Amino acid sequence: MAMVGRSFSLCCLPSQAAGACPAKPTILRPSFSAVAPLQCHPPTHRPRAPSSFSFSFSFFRCVRGMARSDNGVSRDGQKSFPLSSTCLLKLQRGDITKWSVDGTSDAIVNAANERMLGGGGVDGAIHRAAGPELREACWNVPEVRPGVRCPTGEARITGAYRLPVSRVIHTVGPVYDIDEHPEASLRSVYRNCLRIAKENHIQYIAFPAISCGVFRYPLSEASYVAVSTVKEFADDFKEIHFVLFSDDAYSAWLEKANEVL
Ligand code: APR
Repeated sequence: MAMVGRSFSLCCLPSQAAGACPAKPTILRPSFSAVAPLQCHPPTHRPRAPSSFSFSFSFFRCVRGMARSDNGVSRDGQKSFPLSSTCLLKLQRGDITKWSVDGTSDAIVNAANERMLGGGGVDGAIHRAAGPELREACWNVPEVRPGVRCPTGEARITGAYRLPVSRVIHTVGPVYDIDEHPEASLRSVYRNCLRIAKENHIQYIAFPAISCGVFRYPLSEASYVAVSTVKEFADDFKEIHFVLFSDDAYSAWLEKANEVL
């Protein structure tokens, strides 16, 4: 896939206006969610008895619908849950570095560490895909104390450079065995990411399973915190996605979404 780099290197802090980072001019990937609604036209003739043509047409539409959806999972592998009349929660397996909706009002979340200069797991994948400009932007985020740009539970936002989304939101999840209040910290993670996204006019946001890798947060507990917390922001976004790398994480999130939503 051709990647188009961008030259800006400014980091956008929460207090900065959304216009501080230029919007990406090119949409590199089609929307995951664009499904044209079926159009219904009012009848222009008297109702007729069903013909064999209308039966076979209905059958075709029915089969087509089944091909598009299996247990509510669309052909692109997404499972959707309404959070409100205007917001969907979407679950899918995959690599978050490939995710985008429109390249202008979308953001992915990075499970970073407090230094914010890259690491392993999803952090490493995001930095590799975004290119060296992302590390430079992170470097320019002011330290709140030596070696700490983003304390655990907080969030920072930068441009996305060679990624197909418009922004990257960096957050630091709790280390499960060390944090004194891991659930409260993980809730802060989701709330602060969604707050900073809202301040920056993001409408579509995708999270990985924050803290569920190196930081060893159990999937079942993490998925409950994640799904129940993002629900609080149902009026603020069009779509909130979880892009889950492993089958285990996907199953945990699916089970929790079915329970909580
Ligand atoms: N897309 C989506 N999810 C991914 C990807 C990817 N490309 N790569 C890994 N993951 C998943 C992992 O499978 C795990 O479920 O992201 C989840 C979070 O795992 P980690 O990346 O290890 O994040 P975390 O547990 O929060 O630990 C953060 O790891 O390397 C670092 O710098 C990072 O120190 C920080 C720590």
